Amino acid sequence: MNLHNDIPKHIAIIMDGNGRWAKAHGLPRAQGHRAGAESVREAIDACKELGVSYLTLYAFSSENWSRPPAEVSALMVLLERFLESKVDDLMKQGVRLRAIGQLDRLPAKTRAMLDNVIAKTAGNDLLTLVLALSYGSREEITEAAKKIALMVASGEIAANEITPDFFGSQLHTSGLPDPDLLIRTSGEMRVSNFLLWQISYAEMVIVDKFWPDFRQGDVFAAVKEYQKRHRRYGSV
Ligand code: IPE
Ligand code: IPE
Ligand code: MG
Repeated sequence: MNLHNDIPKHIAIIMDGNGRWAKAHGLPRAQGHRAGAESVREAIDACKELGVSYLTLYAFSSENWSRPPAEVSALMVLLERFLESKVDDLMKQGVRLRAIGQLDRLPAKTRAMLDNVIAKTAGNDLLTLVLALSYGSREEITEAAKKIALMVASGEIAANEITPDFFGSQLHTSGLPDPDLLIRTSGEMRVSNFLLWQISYAEMVIVDKFWPDFRQGDVFAAVKEYQKRHRRYGSV
């Protein structure tokens, strides 16, 4: 692979298949989520090596709140553990943390830890790691529409100032470039309410492995596949 040619600037990953991985190993689902933490490290390292500027990880969806409370709390504990144990590495690697989603729905302790790592890493600029937490694209778009409606109602902007760029600037991803490459693990071919607006022209690569089995080499393979694609953007 040519590491210097056409590296996606932004990779987004739907980390799926932890439960099925656990089942295949005769383990409880929470063990699958725990094993998936190692894959997160691998994905970050691969992006660092390639010189990718933005990595967005779908860690918890709006719909995932409907899972059994024990699984939800196991996921929150894992997130806390990740934040606690990774902060030094993130500083060393020059990684800035950011989060998108309805963060006010997170438990207060988890939210405080998240805010702390975001503040601590704010000055890093080699890679931006975006965690999608309690994230749902329809919620995000609806929220933006409400905000914009209020701006118009108050006379702050005129309705004809609502352009796609302006609309995009009101989403949680404001300031982030759109993903170039969207990876989903575990073979599932759906987007599950993830970045619906932002992935308009992303190239999709479906990986036939459960998330806990995902390694750096899988990122490289996906980028290689991406480099073979011809992005037309509706043109010829
Ligand atoms: C992805 O794995 C992690 C989250 C959605 C939080 P799943 O938990 O969805 O695993 P499967 O899809 O049931 O195997
Ligand atoms: C998408 O996976 C959400 C995350 C990876 C966090 P799900 O497992 O929740 O999606 P569905 O239910 O298969 O669509
Ligand atoms: Mg799943």
